[in-house]
Amino acid sequence: MNTWLKRGLLVVGVLVGVLVLAVGAAVAYGQLTYRRTIERDLYPIEADTSPEGIARGKYLVEHVIACSGCHSEHDGGVLSGTFENVSLGPIRGTISFSNLTPDVETGLGAWSDAEIARAIREGIGRDGRELYIMPSQKFHKMSDADVAAIVGYLRSLEPVRNELPEMSGNIFGKTALALHLLTPGAVGDPITAPRVAPDPGTLAYGEYLVTIGLCRDCHGESLRGGKSPAADALPAPNLTSSGHLGAWTEAQFIDTLRFGTTPEGRLLDPEQMHWPLYGQMTDEDLSTIFQYLRSLPAD
Ligand code: HEC
Ligand code: HEC
Repeated sequence: MNTWLKRGLLVVGVLVGVLVLAVGAAVAYGQLTYRRTIERDLYPIEADTSPEGIARGKYLVEHVIACSGCHSEHDGGVLSGTFENVSLGPIRGTISFSNLTPDVETGLGAWSDAEIARAIREGIGRDGRELYIMPSQKFHKMSDADVAAIVGYLRSLEPVRNELPEMSGNIFGKTALALHLLTPGAVGDPITAPRVAPDPGTLAYGEYLVTIGLCRDCHGESLRGGKSPAADALPAPNLTSSGHLGAWTEAQFIDTLRFGTTPEGRLLDPEQMHWPLYGQMTDEDLSTIFQYLRSLPAD
């Protein structure tokens, strides 16, 4: 064989070998760290079950955050959980979106208030295991009062018995979860000091609502457009002034979220952009979100 050809084959062989080793190492590391346990004290949170607390929790869960987009069979539905079989290239898996109702065996009935709050804000399950896909990193800055209100609201729900399959996957599925290849890692730094939300109506409060409201999960970290990791997701437009919003008035923004039609006359798909849920935020909160989006640098 010609020496150049030999050398060429050798180089290709080495490259393929390195690639196989790298994938093998990633898969092995993924299997080892899958559902790792995190030792951490619970930050004390007590559910706010006052009528105001439950109302605040319901407002956040249903209209600001749309937890039902994941934890229910359908948007705005009962939070008794659901599951989805995923198939993406070699990745196969079952994602279980936990039952959040107070059923003792299949829901959160046996969890303490602080354990539920830690799962929401720190991404750690009751048994200390790392949670996957749950967007806790966006809830990490949630105030103590708001998380206590959410726990109070979850406690007020009717218990629904709904046994779900365990989250599982083939080796590629587990690797993708363990290495956070498809969604950001859920686990955040330990919360050790009280958290307070910015004052309502301020730009900082607009940012707070946009962050816990998960707008960035689809519209991108910089809000300049993006896409949710869901398989059938539509692109989510740029929400800064360099997008359509640059030409909208505040009233037009509020109407878009209330009625699902943009000033340009486009209908927003309610399965992708949960406007029927967000559209029931108060005028003040929608206005604050608009002011915050307006304050972002346009490119
Ligand atoms: C993007 C989808 C998504 C959204 C939105 C979401 N969750 Fe989750 N959540 C999950 C998934 C998936 C799990 C299961 C994680 C696991 O088992 O590793 C989970 C787990 C949890 C758990 C731990 C339950 C258990 O049995 O381990 C709690 C509590 C929880 N979510 C509360 C909420 C609340 C409250 C909201 C809204 C404020 C919310 N989640 C929004 C996907 C989501
Ligand atoms: C699950 C993904 C997802 C989340 C979360 C989400 N959006 Fe959207 N959004 C979309 C998609 C997709 C579209 C485009 C829908 C269409 O064209 O039918 C859209 C469209 C919009 C539009 C119309 C923009 C334009 O240029 O026409 C606005 C405004 C908007 N979203 C604001 C928000 C705000 C504010 C939040 C947070 C409270 C949010 N979205 C959360 C996916 C999402």
